[in-house]
Amino acid sequence: MRMIVPEAGGELDDFGLAQAYAYPRARWLRANMVMSADGSASVDGKSGGLSSPGDKRVFGILRVLADVVLVGSGTVTAEQYKPARPRPALAALRTGRPATATIAVITGSLDLNLAAPLFTEAPPDARTIVITSEAAPADLRAAAGQVADVIVAGKKAVDLPTALTALADRGLGRVICEGGPHLLGQIAAGGLLDELILTISPTLAGPGAGRIVAGDAFPAAAMTLAQALTEDGYLFCRYLLANATS
Ligand SMILES: NC(=O)c1ccc[n+]([C@@H]2O[C@H](COP(=O)([O-])OP(=O)(O)OC[C@H]3O[C@@H](n4cnc5c(N)ncnc54)[C@H](OP(=O)(O)O)[C@@H]3O)[C@@H](O)[C@H]2O)c1
Repeated sequence: MRMIVPEAGGELDDFGLAQAYAYPRARWLRANMVMSADGSASVDGKSGGLSSPGDKRVFGILRVLADVVLVGSGTVTAEQYKPARPRPALAALRTGRPATATIAVITGSLDLNLAAPLFTEAPPDARTIVITSEAAPADLRAAAGQVADVIVAGKKAVDLPTALTALADRGLGRVICEGGPHLLGQIAAGGLLDELILTISPTLAGPGAGRIVAGDAFPAAAMTLAQALTEDGYLFCRYLLANATS
């Protein structure tokens, strides 16, 4: 994998990639998504069909750099989320932090499989977090609390600014949102996104699947292309939102 923007460069090893994707601030919300060249966010209901070894590598590095992985329950179910994998060779990038980023799941319904590895196999210092609202049934909140840390943010639905503040208060200010499109749509609509990290796959997926954002419409937001890498015909772009540069 090599850089083409802002300047052409040689092959990047994992530490070079980590430098390329370093968080600009201790409190920062970035999203990492993959799409086909014609704008699809999935193939056959999963994003895996758009991925590549390079995309998986960037995905892994972004997790090593993050304090917390923020994800919607739809993606947790569709992609069968598990705890983040420790990367001993990159331990130097996590000095003073748990070996892995915490996974934080956003759900209003609390319709989660609490027996899944995401909950049963998370390490004690990076226990999975469930973020829900006051409207969630109390018995389901209590059940989630047996296997996860529970954050209640918002009355009828999760209030994302409140949730992000609660995460930052726990020392989890460097956030990587891994989707899905409904969660990213709300984050973007709320002006909460600092950075979009987008893999563009050299694939024509055809009509049918949704885009990387879904939900309610929001005004178009200009972004700056801060960086682009390439490998095997894939483009790995870093876009900064206007609010991030101020
Ligand atoms: N291309 C990519 O990079 C990429 C990335 C991720 C996912 N995907 C694909 O996207 C699909 C899943 O995405 P999705 O958009 O359907 O789901 P999603 O955004 O992952 O999750 C949506 C769910 O999150 C919860 N949620 C979100 N915002 C909430 C709020 N403010 N308050 C309370 N709950 C909230 C709700 O859960 P409850 O229903 O539990 O209340 C909602 O149903 C899958 O096909 C996956 O493969 C693609």
